[in-house]
Amino acid sequence: MTTATGSMPTGSMSIGSMPTESMLTESVPAESARTVGIFGAGKSGTAIARRALAAGYTVRITTSGPAERTALVAGILTLGAVPVDAQHLADGTDLVVLAVPLRAWRDLPLARLAGRVVVDVMNYWPPVDGILPEFETDRPSSEIVRDGLPPDARLVKTLNHIDYHDIEDLARPAGSPDRVALAVAGDDADAVALVSQFVDDLGFDAVPAGGLAASAALQPGSPIFGANLGRADLIATLDGIGRATA
Ligand SMILES: NC(=O)c1ccc[n+]([C@@H]2O[C@H](COP(=O)([O-])OP(=O)(O)OC[C@H]3O[C@@H](n4cnc5c(N)ncnc54)[C@H](OP(=O)(O)O)[C@@H]3O)[C@@H](O)[C@H]2O)c1
Repeated sequence: MTTATGSMPTGSMSIGSMPTESMLTESVPAESARTVGIFGAGKSGTAIARRALAAGYTVRITTSGPAERTALVAGILTLGAVPVDAQHLADGTDLVVLAVPLRAWRDLPLARLAGRVVVDVMNYWPPVDGILPEFETDRPSSEIVRDGLPPDARLVKTLNHIDYHDIEDLARPAGSPDRVALAVAGDDADAVALVSQFVDDLGFDAVPAGGLAASAALQPGSPIFGANLGRADLIATLDGIGRATA
């Protein structure tokens, strides 16, 4: 897993060609929408956005700034994604992805996630986040995030144990012999199924990894973290972790 901070391209550009809210509404009937909202237009968020766009998803994306500033980033890194402000990111979405540094997650408009399926891509990574006392615990970070969401939001952890480069470099069509598998952990079966389909659409096998209580197996320090395992090896490794902690 990289610890590089990376840097956004800078410079001015026209945002006249960016899709607008009205275009989104006109072109995607609600009943057939497959829309994902992504908090975070950084390394991980933009890689997920590009794969989702390639898979035909409508993608809404935000930085910490207003939609106009996100449009400058999206216009370079996620062309075709709809830049929105954070307050409206979740509107009309089937899935919401949290791809911000963990130190920033409480700044997100969490109340707007009521009723949503939420994908937790975030890792507690002190070299980047600093020491965050609430995550200095044996509890999996996703349980802590889940507890901060509205009660009817359904949190699923995945996509956190693959480097952002690999989200694009290693994506493969279903059935490819060298396809990488990603663990998917969550407490709600329907939410896990929806997110597993998303993972598959991005180009990876999805392997159920239990509930959020078991999601430490996906975190930094786990043998699956950054390992880019195929399906059989991922299942075997998760089974091994389960046995080790049983
Ligand atoms: N990098 C990887 O390979 C990788 C892989 C797996 C998981 N992850 C996890 O994914 C998360 C993001 O990592 P990253 O490397 O993509 O970070 P990053 O490149 O630093 O990007 C972070 C993004 O989050 C945005 N952001 C920060 N605060 C926000 C807020 N309050 N509302 C909306 N957007 C906000 C930032 O916007 P501004 O520019 O406006 O601040 C930026 O677009 C982390 O938790 C990390 O552990 C990363």
